[in-house]
Amino acid sequence: MTMKRLLIVGNWKMNGQLAANADLLGAILHPTPACDRVDMAVCVPAPYLAQAQLICQASALSWGGQDVSAHEQGAYTGEVSAAMLQDFKVRYVLVGHSERRQYHGESSSVVAAKAQRALAKGITPIVCVGETLQEREAGQTEDVVKRQLAAVIQQVGHCVSELVVAYEPVWAIGTGRTASPEQAQAVHALLRAQLNAATANAPSIRLLYGGSMNASNAASLLAQPDIDGGLVGGASLKPHDFLAIVAAAQAL
Ligand code: 13P
Repeated sequence: MTMKRLLIVGNWKMNGQLAANADLLGAILHPTPACDRVDMAVCVPAPYLAQAQLICQASALSWGGQDVSAHEQGAYTGEVSAAMLQDFKVRYVLVGHSERRQYHGESSSVVAAKAQRALAKGITPIVCVGETLQEREAGQTEDVVKRQLAAVIQQVGHCVSELVVAYEPVWAIGTGRTASPEQAQAVHALLRAQLNAATANAPSIRLLYGGSMNASNAASLLAQPDIDGGLVGGASLKPHDFLAIVAAAQAL
């Protein structure tokens, strides 16, 4: 049992188009889901931020971006700045998703700079950390996630308590292979201890689990003492599944 409001965030990744997005958001919001004890959000592709804002603005569903530039403005073709995200009133932005780290070469220092840019514009960064299968099998999970988080903690200083942190084991993303609640909790406890060492407000920081979270495994993951929500990929594209995860959080 936790006093904290849990947070369920959908990460659409590079999926969706105008008509499908309208259908998906409509199905999530009508009829209005019971969510007085849960915060919920969707992180949408940048071109659809205006659409998400328009559809979600009077609802309990927040919207966010999936990435933000480490630079403030200028000659960075294709990048989206924190100020641009702020124009669309986003509440959250993902930083350091493993797909960005893996396919776009984002280092932990770049991720830290991105988190800082978001905070400077009043946007909550959802800092993603997680080990690959190879790293887990080599016994490096603790080192890897601690190093990833340490870079951000060092950069943001006293703003640490404004972060959301998501533990997403890379081997569990999109694979249908979820971390067991015990495996996830063990890493969340490490991350909590690391945050505790950085701020007195660590107990209020929300630590999300991500990686094949779905309607049937959400309740047992969310029941863990240091799991304060979920970062949901595939299942967030299916309104019934996303709502079932929100309902599992609401029922805790
Ligand atoms: P899946 O839920 O599709 O495994 O994706 C998890 C994820 O990467 C969310 O950011």
